[in-house]
Amino acid sequence: MSNRTFTMIKPDATAKGYTGAILDQIIKAGYTIKAMKWIKLTKEQAGLFYDIHRERLFFGELVDFMSSGTIVAAILEKENAVADFRKLIGATNPANAEEGTIRKLYAASIGENAVHGSDSDENALIEGDFFFSKLERF
Ligand code: PPS
Repeated sequence: MSNRTFTMIKPDATAKGYTGAILDQIIKAGYTIKAMKWIKLTKEQAGLFYDIHRERLFFGELVDFMSSGTIVAAILEKENAVADFRKLIGATNPANAEEGTIRKLYAASIGENAVHGSDSDENALIEGDFFFSKLERF
């Protein structure tokens, strides 16, 4: 089991001024930030990141949204990082997310759901590599 996951604070949450509160909740949950950057993706970059979802009906909407504003991308470290982070953020659809989770607190809809969290150790590595060079993480 790896001790790292990858996250993005999405454009809805950065635009509404939730970045500080979300990072605070992540750090209080025991995560150490190993790399972090503010970035605005192009449509092409967002499409590449979500390539696995290319055939899904919402793909265009997801790419438009993820390239619509600044995001914060980060690599996080903690024991059992991937599974615990998915619990911390809550269900993809905030309507189904548990009380106190980041999506319950800060997300508006299944499309604009405030944060991303990797779904496996393998994808955490791939996604971290998508955003960060070796020089940018430790
Ligand atoms: S998950 O968490 O990966 O199991 O969720 P999944 O349902 O497979 O969704 C994959 C990503 O697509 C986003 N999504 C949507 N965007 C726009 N509209 C609709 N209807 C929609 N449904 C799902 C969802 O937020 C996931 O993005 P990430 O960044 O992985 O959380």
